[in-house]
Amino acid sequence: QWQSVPLAPPDSIFKLTAAYKEDTFGKKINLGVGAYRDDNSKPWVLPVVKEATRILLQDESLDHEYLPITGLPEFTAAAAKLILGSDSPAIAENRVSSVQTISGTGANHLGALFLSRFYQWGSAEKKVWLSNPTWANHQAIFKNVDIAPVDYPYYDPKTIGLDFEGFVGALKNAPERSVFLLHACAHNPTGVDPTPEQWATIADVFLAKKHFAFLDCAYQGFASGDLDNDARAVRFFVEKGVSLLICQSFAKNAGLYGERVGALHVVSTSKEAATRVKSQLSVLQRSEISNPPTHGARIVSLILNNPNMFEMWKRDIATMANRIIDMRKELFRLLTEELHTPGDWKHIVNQIGMFSFTGITPAQSKALIDDAHIYLTANGRISMAGLNSHNIKYFAESLDRVVRT
Ligand code: LMR
Repeated sequence: QWQSVPLAPPDSIFKLTAAYKEDTFGKKINLGVGAYRDDNSKPWVLPVVKEATRILLQDESLDHEYLPITGLPEFTAAAAKLILGSDSPAIAENRVSSVQTISGTGANHLGALFLSRFYQWGSAEKKVWLSNPTWANHQAIFKNVDIAPVDYPYYDPKTIGLDFEGFVGALKNAPERSVFLLHACAHNPTGVDPTPEQWATIADVFLAKKHFAFLDCAYQGFASGDLDNDARAVRFFVEKGVSLLICQSFAKNAGLYGERVGALHVVSTSKEAATRVKSQLSVLQRSEISNPPTHGARIVSLILNNPNMFEMWKRDIATMANRIIDMRKELFRLLTEELHTPGDWKHIVNQIGMFSFTGITPAQSKALIDDAHIYLTANGRISMAGLNSHNIKYFAESLDRVVRT
């Protein structure tokens, strides 16, 4: 049995974590997976999460019953307000169908599955346009539900920045009503986001071509340290009336990687349509996971619904975002002022969010792994959160070495 099952390659991101764990070299660094670390390379349990957990543990009224199929209502309602804004007309008009999902990946999956079943594809092949490059998992998520991924230009290797013309050109040339996946903030893997003016142009083309925006938002708060600021593009698209859905994750901004807490929000043009959408999301969810898990949703619900804890959370997010910004500045300083590393490293400070796209080649990335025990994806992406005051010098020197050879 199963003799002909093809052997799959290991996951391009999580294989790095496994290799890093096996490595016995003292100065090893894991810059692979996008997971926050403190200045001592340790995972950081946010103080607000500790507080929420303490409160939950003491609450004797809590049981282990099933949640509703679409999740904990006070969580999904607060999550929708977090991303869309508490004064969002779409929420006030009951046009948002929100479902608790297995983190951002689950939201992407449920959103993709919903589109696969219910989007008006007409006679067209089911296709989703993904930025080149994008998070490695996006391709697989859409293929799983029979939607073919195709690339749109996004990153310009010459400028290590946004290929805005190429991006807008692809939006204009795609058939009407195409589905485009957009990273709402802190683009993964490049750390390159459109400016507010560029977002406005992008929204105009979406409206003119009646495109659908599949907005993936895994890093709200991580880009600028400010939750509202990082939701700007999403809120702007909603305000303009672009057809869209939003995938939301609390893995990164609440440090709840393992709890798998996220949400899918589909915005409709009427309350009636939103009711229909939610009914179908509920059917899909039931057949896949039945009911989402409780614990993470309770933690996030407490944080979002309690004003004091919400303030505490904002401080925790700022702590993480600012440490990453400090690391960007320090890496830039080391490369340009101390090591005089060939190249223009301005992109390190211009890019935002968890990742930096260094611009190094796959061969140079491999040399960092093989020679320096520094783990990063082959495309030259580094998780800035893996750098700290103790290892940044070693990283800068190792990067300098591979760039010069
Ligand atoms: C990453 O891109 O490293 C993270 O989003 C973790 C993951 O699930 O791949």
